[in-house]
Amino acid sequence: MKWEKNIQSGSPLQFEDATNHDLGQRMIFAHPPEPPPELLMNDPTNSIYIGRTRLMKVPFYWNFDKLTNPHIAIVGVTGAGKSYLVKTFLTRAALVWKTNALILDWAGEYVDWVKQTGGEVIELGPKNSLNLMDLGGNSPLNRTRQIMRTLEILFESKGRDDEKRVLEEAIEEAYLEKKFSLHATGQEKLEPPTLKDVHRILLKKAEKADSVWVKEYIRNAAKMVGRFTKEGADFLARPSTLKMSKLTSSGLVDIVLKKLPDEEFRVLAGLSILQYLKERMREEEWSAEKGLKLYVVLDEAWKIAQDDRSDAIMIVREGRKYQFGLIVASQNPTDINEAIFSNVGTTFILNLKFQRFKDYVRASLKYSDFIADAIEKFGVGNAAVNLTFSAKTDFPRTFLIDKIHGEDPLEEIVISGEGMEHKVDRNELKRRLSYEGVTPDIDALCKDGKIDAIALVKWLEAKRYSRTRVVDILSYIGLELKMIRKIFKGMRGGKNEG
Ligand SMILES: Nc1ncnc2c1ncn2[C@@H]1O[C@H](COP(=O)(O)OP(=O)(O)O)[C@@H](O)[C@H]1O
Ligand SMILES: [Mg+2]
Repeated sequence: MKWEKNIQSGSPLQFEDATNHDLGQRMIFAHPPEPPPELLMNDPTNSIYIGRTRLMKVPFYWNFDKLTNPHIAIVGVTGAGKSYLVKTFLTRAALVWKTNALILDWAGEYVDWVKQTGGEVIELGPKNSLNLMDLGGNSPLNRTRQIMRTLEILFESKGRDDEKRVLEEAIEEAYLEKKFSLHATGQEKLEPPTLKDVHRILLKKAEKADSVWVKEYIRNAAKMVGRFTKEGADFLARPSTLKMSKLTSSGLVDIVLKKLPDEEFRVLAGLSILQYLKERMREEEWSAEKGLKLYVVLDEAWKIAQDDRSDAIMIVREGRKYQFGLIVASQNPTDINEAIFSNVGTTFILNLKFQRFKDYVRASLKYSDFIADAIEKFGVGNAAVNLTFSAKTDFPRTFLIDKIHGEDPLEEIVISGEGMEHKVDRNELKRRLSYEGVTPDIDALCKDGKIDAIALVKWLEAKRYSRTRVVDILSYIGLELKMIRKIFKGMRGGKNEG
């Protein structure tokens, strides 16, 4: 049998000194190399459909209740289907949990899709600006430190200590000049300063300096911010046109960084937005609602997924308790910070081209030869999934999905009749019917985007479902009991007969 090959990688194991756990981990016994179906088939009203498993053909409904966290890493070559998976995932998360999403879109890849789904596209650059000195709920002192941290990430800590010190002082002075006390918050009504103020303050300091070398390091500090304040390229040094406080609760938001002048601008904007998000996250009250409030997506945003000082790491550490999730997608797994890559609850491995990437991913996730062989042969849409359960497990945590079952564009169907209009997504409706054991060949029932409720009941009855089963099924696809009663009453009334 295939799965006898599924010996977990590692040193050869002597049976005598192996613990039960070790043996279980190494799958020497003939378990199929997939987690048990009951852990993969979560309730579709509280989970996200991904596709069927390759061996047991179990429909995999992803849910993070039993996982260490809701965060997700996706790795695979260009064209393997990373962004496709992100889109599918976010669409379903919005449907089942009303999860908001904020995408930091490096190359503008998501624009068309976001527009199509009715989300909001915000293009930073000539159209929209973000003032890096906005407080976003911080005190000026904290925000000063955050700005210094992002500048350090950007310039790889190249700046000399005295350059950094004078830059920090100038940022503080810029806040004080605008009457922002360095320790107080709640001054959002005042217009915060911009990097232009910082630049001006630095140039003045340089002018007043009494030695040549002091002048020089102050001028260097001025150069660090100066590049962001030039006329026509001051998109991060003008009053903000986007409201950070709204971004986390506005459905699907795509922040496009492509139109910014260069990588430095994109990194600076991306890191700053993550800092604001982290602050907003920490203000969130716990809520009893299922699922997640927000997914933050970093797709090919390697610089901000990689650096130890990036707040992506804070979101991974603390996100779960605030119902914030992170999705990182990258063609190069070593570009994802280890604190992220080794801590996400779920990893999707798509087609990986380079041997060193395969070795890296396998060393981290420790899957079997069986999985590694399968990955070698992956085409578009094939995936291996690694789940990290909170509790100890004795089954393999990496398994294969034949094909990520993609989301066609949303197609709304209205179930109508008896004064009711109930909107559902066609795919979602089909999936829920399948889950209930009903073959979802609904296409003939559906006319002009509408399904007549009474026709639907008759269709189910023709499939020989009992009245009580029909009630169950209808309520499972989202109809309220009140409505269901009306439909049956309508049928008894003899309307729509014949
Ligand atoms: N599971 C899938 N089913 C069908 N088509 C897919 C699937 N995954 C990807 N594709 C298609 O393959 C192409 C590349 O996918 P994309 O997500 O852009 O790759 P990546 O982001 O990894 O570069 C796209 O045209 C996409 O529609
Ligand atoms: Mg992509």
